[in-house]
Formats: sequence, C-alpha cells, structure tokens
Amino acid sequence: MESSFSTIIEPFRIHSVEPLRMTTSDDRRRAIEDAGFNLFNLHATDVLIDFLTDSGTGAMSRDQWAAIQQGDESYAGSPSWFRFEAAVKDLFPFKHVIPTHQGRAAEKILFSVLGGDGRIVPNNTHFDTTRANVEASGARAVDLLIAEGREASTVHPFKGNMDVAELEKLLAAQRDDVPVVFLTITNNSGGGQPVSLANIRAVSETCHRYGVPLFLDSCRFAENAWFIHEREPGQGDREIADIVREIASLADGMTMSAKKDPFGNIGGWLALNDDDLAERCRTVLILTEGFPTYGGLAGRDLEAIAQGLREAVHPDYLRYRIRSTAYLGDALDAAGVPVVKPIGGHAVYIDARALLSHIPALQYPGQSLAVALYITGGIRSCEIGSVMFGRQPDGTEKPADMELVRLAIPRRTYTQSHIDYVIEVVKAVAQDASNLRGYRMVREPLALRHFTAEFEPLD
Ligand code: F0G
Repeated sequence: MESSFSTIIEPFRIHSVEPLRMTTSDDRRRAIEDAGFNLFNLHATDVLIDFLTDSGTGAMSRDQWAAIQQGDESYAGSPSWFRFEAAVKDLFPFKHVIPTHQGRAAEKILFSVLGGDGRIVPNNTHFDTTRANVEASGARAVDLLIAEGREASTVHPFKGNMDVAELEKLLAAQRDDVPVVFLTITNNSGGGQPVSLANIRAVSETCHRYGVPLFLDSCRFAENAWFIHEREPGQGDREIADIVREIASLADGMTMSAKKDPFGNIGGWLALNDDDLAERCRTVLILTEGFPTYGGLAGRDLEAIAQGLREAVHPDYLRYRIRSTAYLGDALDAAGVPVVKPIGGHAVYIDARALLSHIPALQYPGQSLAVALYITGGIRSCEIGSVMFGRQPDGTEKPADMELVRLAIPRRTYTQSHIDYVIEVVKAVAQDASNLRGYRMVREPLALRHFTAEFEPLD
C-alpha cells in the first residue's frame, strides 16, 4: 500500500532476535591483522554490521519457518519438490527446473556442458563465480555493458543494460563460437544496476535472430522488476509477477541463486526449455548435486524457497527494500562520499578510486577502505575492484574497470538505526581518507583470489 507519509517503515515487525557482539577498535585491529587483512577471513562474531553480502544472510519470515515444518525429506518425488517446482514455474515458466545447492552449482553444470576451449560467453557483466566457471571450462567470458554502466558517477536509469550493438557485432563475426548469451539482473559487479525491459527485449531479439539462446543470471530478478516498474515508461501499472513472467518469456533459460531475492539461506536452480540440454545437465547434476527432485537441497530448503518466492514479488516489500537501500546511498551522497549512482537494489557501492585517489589501483584502494570501515566501526564490506577482478587468465595483473567497496544489505535484517550508525562510520572514515594507505598482496590462490588472499599494509 502506498502511504502518504514519507518515512519508510520496515513492512514487518521483529519475531525473534539475534544478539550483536560489541567490540572495540583495538579488538578489531587485532582481528583483521590475524585475518591477513582479508575480511572474508574474519570470525563473523567479530563483526558488528555484516554487509559482506546479501547472499543467504537475510531473515526468513514466519511463513517460511512454518513452511520448513512441511519439509518432506523423501529422496525422490518429495511433495516439497513439487511445491518448489510449482513456485519457480509460476514466475519462470521454463519447461525444466533443475535444483542445485546454490547459484554457482547451476553455473558449473551449464558451462561444463556448453563451455569449452574457443567458446565465448557474453554477459552484461559476469559476476565473479560466473566468470570463473566460464573460464574454468576453457571458454572466454566477455562483458558487453553499456558505457554508462562503467562510469560510477554517470546517472542512467538502467546502467545494467547490455550494449546491443556490441553484441550484434560479436554474433555477426563469431556466432558459431557463442553457445549462450547471458544477462545478469541486476548487474551485481556493476553496482546492483537494473536492466530495462526494452534492453532485455532487444538482446532477446538479437540472440534469436542468430539462433543463440539467451539465459538470465536472475538472483535479483524481483529488485530488477521493481526498477522496471518504477522507472520504465508504461510499466508502472503492472504487477511485479507479471513483469517477471515477461522477462522469463524473453529468455531460453536461467541460473539462479535462491540465496538472494527468494529469501533462501541456501539454494539455487537451473531452468531451461531445451529438452536435450536439460538431459545433459541432469546427468551432470546426478553426478555432482543429487537426484533431480532435490538437487543439493533438503526438502525443508525447497519449502523455504517456495514460500520466499511468493514474498519476494510483494510490492510493499520491494518498495521498502529499494527505498531503504537508497536511504543509505543518498545519505552518503549528500555527505560528499562518492557512490555509484543511481543507488542500486541490494547494495551501496562506494567509489574507492575517487575517495582514495592517492592510492594506485594495484595497491588496492578498495581493500584499504574496506579494512578502515571494519576497524573504525565493525562494518564488514566487500571489495569489488582490482583484488576481485585484477588477475587475468594469462597470469598478469591489470586494474579493474572500477574500484568499488560494496555495502550489501541483507534482506529484512537490519533496522534504520543500524543504517544510521553505518552512515556515521562511513562519514568518519571518508573524512580521514587521505591518511589511508595501500596494501600489498602477500598470498594469492590460483582462482577467485579475493576469498583467501592475504595482505600487508604498505608504509
Ligand atoms: N550470480 C550473481 C549475479 C551473484 O551475485 C552470485 C552470488 C552468483 C551468481 C552465485 O550464486 O553464491 O549462490 O553460488 N553473489 C554473492 C554476492 C556471493 O555476495 O554477491 P551463489
């Protein structure tokens, strides 16, 4: 329901609470040193406000906990599976739904079937696990984002859009090397920015003219549909579920992390229309995840996701979700902290290149800012810059397009006073930004280095 008052209230009240552990900046300095200055290595109990990710970290609803009690753990043909499949197909009416334990398992299965040496997979922007799974198969991951999407401060309503002219050029030259085109909704690595319905239609038309299937990386599909509802001419009177169904109808399949918009703590799926491809994917599924009616999931997980999908498209929830993220972003913007604009759906992205312009990209300004936010206020964020994307497949290192620090907001978990505290901490760190120093990477794994790399501060 639209209210005539401007205060955005959480459209829920609290049902059970978890304590937060208070720490001092000295405690946190010790903890981050022990963690090799990598926030992924911290004990979560040493974190006050955990904005590392919005993945699997949201609060479940009363109705999800109730659904969990209906979980049926039959190995094959569980009623929980049929409820899950029906809930998925209600929004995404693809012929085959293949459950997996999380999004990257769906990616791994799909790219192990469709990828391989010499293949090219275009996307608006690959997320880190998507890129890694494409590259692990031997294929090349290509990002074809519109130019505005790569500029942190440029305002555009749909900065997640794909550059259709570039896609056309690629398909005209190398159609036989492209097994699938992907669109990530919303574009996580590029600031949580949405893709317009017009762009999805244009990408779909281009793909199908060349006979190439279009797949959606749809983790944040409901947030993307809300932006379409709010920003795209002619879409404001439609139901969110109706917009989602149209998006699905333009694609041939999807990968999904149910840890995002569907409010799962775990879960995902691969869905598609092609019978032969589904058969090949199910064969890999049985080898790696499990029988096709549970994938890597317990019956109770399937129930939680089925219920979560119904809640994810509710307009009261989405209005709160998107406006509360903007509340944080707008406050930082008003305080002069450079952020990616407009504010995205699940997170606020601070532009560390602009804020820490004295630190070169390969001394990791984003990492420096993320460590400072933790030591100063116990806030855990995530670098999305040259630590995450700087390593090239040939082993060299080059600066990423942007140096961002993501404050990802778990769904329905923190209140406005938590956010007010975060605003205060970020402002304090920003005021002291010129005193922050760069970092050197002292340990680096072979792939997805940001998860386990270790750092040392430079003098
Ligand atoms: N695609 C996108 C766009 C994602 O954001 C993620 C996960 C995945 C795929 C993989 O899904 O984690 O279930 O295997 N993103 C999380 C994040 C981890 O923090 O943004 P998963």
